[in-house]
Amino acid sequence: MRRRTWIAGAVAVAMALSVFAGSGVASAQEDHSGAIKARIAYMQLNGFFMGQLAAIAKGQVPYEPAQATGVAKSLLALSTMDAGAMWPPGSDNQAVPGKTRALPEIWTTFPAVMEKANALTVALEAMVVAAGTDLASLQGAFGPVGAGCGGCHRSFRAEKF
Ligand code: HEC
Repeated sequence: MRRRTWIAGAVAVAMALSVFAGSGVASAQEDHSGAIKARIAYMQLNGFFMGQLAAIAKGQVPYEPAQATGVAKSLLALSTMDAGAMWPPGSDNQAVPGKTRALPEIWTTFPAVMEKANALTVALEAMVVAAGTDLASLQGAFGPVGAGCGGCHRSFRAEKF
């Protein structure tokens, strides 16, 4: 009984939202600010861990296998999480100017962006092994990881907000 009421309430809200959308005013469904915020935060995590890995690769931080492996695994975890919900259609930099650097090509050429994402995952899998081996291996695996990030940015990220 209580559940029925809840469902009826949800339907009423959904109908109200669709009426709102039909009026041409930006609806709650079209507000992608949460997803945009989340994916920028996600990319900042990528940037943070890449900075740590770069410092190890450059010898600015002493190489320590367990720590280096932890950093590599963190990047791999980010790369393999299901991040799809952070990239809803209609959240590109044309649709939402000034808020995101995501280019429309992410959606218009889909699944090309997934090939870039997968290339990074492959490079990170190699990095997890290399990071636990020795510094020279880590340094050798670093280029492909950087290329994995940059390859996607070149095709799918605008220069500026
Ligand atoms: C599959 C594509 C893709 C891959 C792979 C990728 N990025 Fe990004 N990155 C993007 C896009 C698109 C944006 C813009 C997001 C937005 O503004 O909504 C972005 C934004 C960023 C930003 C800017 C965040 C801000 O503060 O505005 C940083 C930093 C970043 N990425 C770091 C990285 C690092 C480091 C890697 C690799 C470990 C990486 N990215 C891998 C697509 C990618």
